[in-house]
Amino acid sequence: MHGLVAANTVVAASACSVWDVYGTLQVLTIINTFLPNVLGTVKVLEGDGHVGTLLNVTFPPGTPGVGYMKEMITKVDNKKRVKETETIEGGFVALGFSRYITQYKIIEKNSTSSIIISTIEYELDDKLANLTSVVNTELVETLAETVGKYLTEKTPPPY
Ligand SMILES: *[C@@H]1O[C@H](CO)[C@@H](O)[C@H](O)[C@H]1NC(C)=O
Ligand SMILES: *[C@@H]1O[C@H](CO)[C@@H](O)[C@H](O)[C@H]1NC(C)=O
Ligand SMILES: *[C@@H]1O[C@H](CO)[C@@H](O)[C@H](O)[C@H]1NC(C)=O
Repeated sequence: MHGLVAANTVVAASACSVWDVYGTLQVLTIINTFLPNVLGTVKVLEGDGHVGTLLNVTFPPGTPGVGYMKEMITKVDNKKRVKETETIEGGFVALGFSRYITQYKIIEKNSTSSIIISTIEYELDDKLANLTSVVNTELVETLAETVGKYLTEKTPPPY
C-alpha cells in the first residue's frame, strides 16, 4: 500500500529567500542550530547539497526505534523550487517502510509571502498497514515554521 500526507505552511518571506534555505545545505544549519531536540542533528556524509548528497540524521535522545536515518537528496529543482529526500536506511525504513520520501515545494504568494508545501509519500507492505498511524507532518511543519521565523525575525523560535 502507499500513502501521502501533506501540509501547507504560509510564511512571511519571499519564495526566493525560502528556497535559498531549503534548496541548499543552509536548511541543515537551521535544524542543527534551532531544532536539535526536535528533529535531531544532521551530518553530511557525502556531497554538497546537490542530487546524490547523503545525510545522516541522529534523532533526539529518547526517540523510539533505531535512533537515526540516512537520507539521500534525490531532487533539487531550482526552477520549480522543489526538493526531495529519500530515506535509504534507518528511520521509517528500519520500521519496515519500503519507500519514504519527503518533498518540499516553495510557492510564491506575493513578493513578501510564500507557501511551503511539505509532502511525505510512503509505501509499505499491507501487513504493516497499522504503521501508517505513525506518519504525520508535524516535524516538517515545525521545520517550515522555523525557517519562516528565522527569515522574518532572525531570531530562534522557542523550541
Ligand atoms: C549515523 O548516525 C548514527 C547515530 O548517531 C550513528 O550510529 C551512525 O554511525 C551514523 N552513520 C554514519 C555512516 O555516520
Ligand atoms: C502578501 O501576502 C500577505 C499574506 O497574505 C499579506 O499579508 C501581505 O500584505 C501581501 N503583501 C503584498 C506586498 O501584497
Ligand atoms: C501494529 O501491529 C503490531 C501487531 O499487531 C503491533 O505489535 C504494533 O505495536 C502495531 N504498531 C502500531 C504503530 O500500532
